[in-house]
Amino acid sequence: MRILVIGGGGREHAILLALSHDPSVTALACAPGNAGTASLAETLAADVAKPEDVVRAATEWKADLVVFGPETPLVAGASDAVRAAGIPCFGPSKAAARIEGSKAFAKDVMDTAGVPTATSEIVDNPAKLDAALAGYGPTWVVKDDGLAAGKGVLVTSDFDAARAHAITLLDGGHPVLLESFLDGPEASLFCLVDGTTVVPLLPAQDFKRVGDEDAGPNTGGMGAYAPLPWAPEDLVETVVRDVVQPTVDELAGRGTPFSGLLYAGLALTSNGPQVIEFNCRFGDPETQAVLALLRTPLAGLFKAVAEGTLAEHPPLEWEPGAAVTVVLAAEGYPGRPRVDDVIQGGEAEGVLHSGTRRREDGAVVSAGGRVLSVVATGEDLAAAREGAYRRVAGVHLPGAHWRTDIAKRAVEGEISLPSA
Ligand code: AMP
Ligand code: GLY
Repeated sequence: MRILVIGGGGREHAILLALSHDPSVTALACAPGNAGTASLAETLAADVAKPEDVVRAATEWKADLVVFGPETPLVAGASDAVRAAGIPCFGPSKAAARIEGSKAFAKDVMDTAGVPTATSEIVDNPAKLDAALAGYGPTWVVKDDGLAAGKGVLVTSDFDAARAHAITLLDGGHPVLLESFLDGPEASLFCLVDGTTVVPLLPAQDFKRVGDEDAGPNTGGMGAYAPLPWAPEDLVETVVRDVVQPTVDELAGRGTPFSGLLYAGLALTSNGPQVIEFNCRFGDPETQAVLALLRTPLAGLFKAVAEGTLAEHPPLEWEPGAAVTVVLAAEGYPGRPRVDDVIQGGEAEGVLHSGTRRREDGAVVSAGGRVLSVVATGEDLAAAREGAYRRVAGVHLPGAHWRTDIAKRAVEGEISLPSA
């Protein structure tokens, strides 16, 4: 099987690494890729935000399967275009990708399907903002109704800051989504979905804020670990039953079945798991930790999703133990990152590339905000965490910053669910 992976981050590097261990894979390509994916896959030049360019790359390279990493091409309809060209795909249609692309659509699906989530309302008229804000608090959650990769969200107990953020969004022509604040630790559950059947992967936890102890602004994700030693034993079962399956059934009932990876971003609240958001693709950096533990060949799973035969697939097999990934970010991130710094140690085991490129002189340099994702597995979470930070110490990027507390509270037994 010849597989083309679309995207160019740590998630795609992790997907390619897992695919490279699958004996059914005969060739791998990645578009646009990065300096790390180039060691595992042929790099194809393509503007992946343009569906016709993805189709061109997939056709020219004679792909048997196209796997989509990021949401942007999916929301733009690239998987529909690739399927229309007769090439199987791992990734939902444009219609199903709205579960991530429009928060209002996601809320409507959840309301109809009875899926637990925060109460919310959309404000598109500045004159109605103050009355709407008064209905929330003491912690306000103010979101952009559109794609913002976690960056259009403000969670704050400062009323003036909440109001100012909403006004900025409204002034920019963006409707604002106000939500009730969900207490409790967060978890990410990735599920393979072939339109009807749901197969969950291991639950993971992401670290969204830039600084240790969750200080500073939201980012795309600064680290992750899997599985969750503190989670109730029936967490995955409960989430599939109460959240993912009803959502998948509702999308199928609307004539827009979801096929690909459905990512449930959850808050484990005193009232049980509630959805913070859905994504229509693997999460970055959780994928780097989750796939490090997957034993089942990944290409076969992608193919079963694309062909709608997940129900017949044997149960997933996992390595025992845990995995931790730590993101090295460029100076300035999540603001405008400094680029073109030379990276040393980027070829070491467990070092996955996000924003990197190979310069003409052969040096690997930074080319984005999140630059590297350093992964290690271990017999337990403490060992995996130690391993990941040992590997971080072996990498050098001028000006880099990273969180030093990824998985720390979980190792120390400090995470607990709020009581009902
Ligand atoms: P989103 O873009 O919706 O994923 O939000 C980004 C981050 O903001 C989430 O991962 C949470 O940490 C936080 N967040 C979003 N919505 C809520 C909510 N209703 N209650 C508490 N935290 C939230
Ligand atoms: N790690 C968060 C995301 O991929 O959206």
